[in-house]
Amino acid sequence: MSVRTRAFVTAAREIALDLLAPLPNRRRHTAGVAARAAELASALDLDPDVLVAAAWLHDIGYADPTVVTGFHPLDGADHLAAHGWPLAVAAQVAHHSGARFVAAARGLGERLAAYPFAEDLLSDALTYADQTVGPCGDRVSPTARHDEMLRRHGPDSWNVKVDHVRYPYLSAVAFRMEHRLALAA
Ligand SMILES: [Fe+2]
Repeated sequence: MSVRTRAFVTAAREIALDLLAPLPNRRRHTAGVAARAAELASALDLDPDVLVAAAWLHDIGYADPTVVTGFHPLDGADHLAAHGWPLAVAAQVAHHSGARFVAAARGLGERLAAYPFAEDLLSDALTYADQTVGPCGDRVSPTARHDEMLRRHGPDSWNVKVDHVRYPYLSAVAFRMEHRLALAA
């Protein structure tokens, strides 16, 4: 890891730990996702700079000082953009874990689309990290994470309402990442 990467990731870590201090489980989850992202970067020879920084920052949209719309990927990305973070990081935060499917259902699709999205290895790695760490930071399978998410959010939630279009994407990400990890092992 380069000196620049360490400084970049350290700044992301400090901001996330500060903003999420009132939300200890979300903080544990975030630390777990960042650790998982660092592992994936190493295993798949990905540049950890954007990936690990975005992992630390992906859920800051849950923190009160960032909340505007109540849709955490968009609020987090807008907060980062307003504070001078590179678009590459804000865009990963905006689109993590298939946020575009929920945004479309909530009428926020155009606002989220202000952040570019590419379905590539970097976005797959962040989403896979998020989908293999549970709400308190424990390592889980993508299937267990999905089942727990549906139970936690409940039948009237946006996540459940869009699951028929979002889950195929999350499954495809998991398939691609597990295939890549198997080849790299
Ligand atoms: Fe998350």
